[in-house]
Order: sequence, then structure tokens, then C-alpha cells
Amino acid sequence: MKNCKIFQETAVILSVIFLFFLLLMRTFSDRETRTAGDTETVSAENASPATLPQIALTFDDGPSRQYTPALLDGLKERGVPATFFLIGKNIEGNEDLVLRMQEEGHLIGNHTYNHVELDRVTAETAREEIERTGNRIYEITGVYPTYIRPPFGAWKKNLELSVSMLPVLWDIDTLDWKSRNADSIVAIVEANAADGSIILMHDGYESSVVAALRVVDLLTSQGYEFVTADTFLVT
Ligand code: NI
Repeated sequence: MKNCKIFQETAVILSVIFLFFLLLMRTFSDRETRTAGDTETVSAENASPATLPQIALTFDDGPSRQYTPALLDGLKERGVPATFFLIGKNIEGNEDLVLRMQEEGHLIGNHTYNHVELDRVTAETAREEIERTGNRIYEITGVYPTYIRPPFGAWKKNLELSVSMLPVLWDIDTLDWKSRNADSIVAIVEANAADGSIILMHDGYESSVVAALRVVDLLTSQGYEFVTADTFLVT
């Protein structure tokens, strides 16, 4: 009987110790779960840093056999995307540059075939100018452009309804075609740059290419992120 009692007591003690360990283990595992949860919360906060101000470089009237390659080289070196609004008649012989734009992450848009003022031609001509250019870009890249920069900023009312394209204007006009002066172009951008700005330039001038890359370096150092123009237009 005595042995039996000792056995029972031992069994009770062992059970208590076992329960104690169970409780202890649960406490630790709870703590680990909580720690893991806390860590997740922290990393989620870290994953969304304060948004950088964004800005878009746009280049009209290209491609230019003479100057576009240097611009593409400089943008690639800096890992910066831009938007190119191409004149249809300038594409011939420069198909490789159009393909390069696409391959290197730039957005390609339409700038009509003959650089016409869309509000001064018939609706039919306007549509032809746009579609002919869109088709050339599609034949090369496999992507039909969705955005158009109307030459001279002249848009025909409701034209977007018949051509299914969105016009993209600008808010910083560098007047690069007029000044042909890199210092002047950079100064205009520096004075007007803001979050959401769309900068208008032309890749057919050496001064514009030099200025564009200086603008990229300057605004990057100020914390700007360069994006394609559709970033500000997609709703
Ligand atoms: Ni133009």
C-alpha cells in the first residue's frame, strides 16, 4: 500500500511538473507569436516610406538620329524613364531607336505624322495624322500608343472620343528649341519643378540632351523620382 501511495504521489508531482512545462511552453510560444506579429507591423511600416516627389521628362518631335541615342544612353546610365512623343514621319530609318525606347522602359506617345495643328485641319485629317503614327509605332513595338502630345498644344474638342487617345500637355515649358542653351533650360526647370510637373523638351538638339541629363542629376539630388507621364494621368 505504501509503495502504491508513493507511486500516486509521484504521479501527481510529475503531472504537476508536466502541466507547469506545458504552461511555460505556451507562454513562450505566445510571446514568440506576439513578437512575430510586432515585427510584421514594423516591417509593414518600413515598407511604405514617405512618398518621393515625382516629375516627368517629356521629349517631342523625335526620334533624332543625331541626338536621341546620346539621350537614351544618359537616361539608361541613370536608370531614369522618360516619355517620347514621336512625329510619325521621323520614325522612318529610326525604327531601332523606337524599339530601344520601349526596351529601356520609356513611354512612347503620338505627336501626329506631319506635326500638324490639329484644330486647323479637318476631323478626317486629324484622325489620319494620329492613326498613321500610332500604326507605325505599333508595327515596331507591338504596342499601340494611348497618349498623344498635340503639336502646339492645339487639341480639337472631343477628338479623343474618335481616336481613343488621351492628350498630354505640360506645365514646364523649357523653350529649349528657342534658346538652345543648356544653362537656360536647366534654370527654367529648377525654378518651376514641383511634385507632379510635366517638363516639355525636344530631343533634336544637343543643348536639350545636355540639359535633360543635368536636370535628371539635379532633381534626383533634390529627392525627385522620375516617372513616365502616364503616372499623372491614369485615374
Ligand atoms: Ni512638336
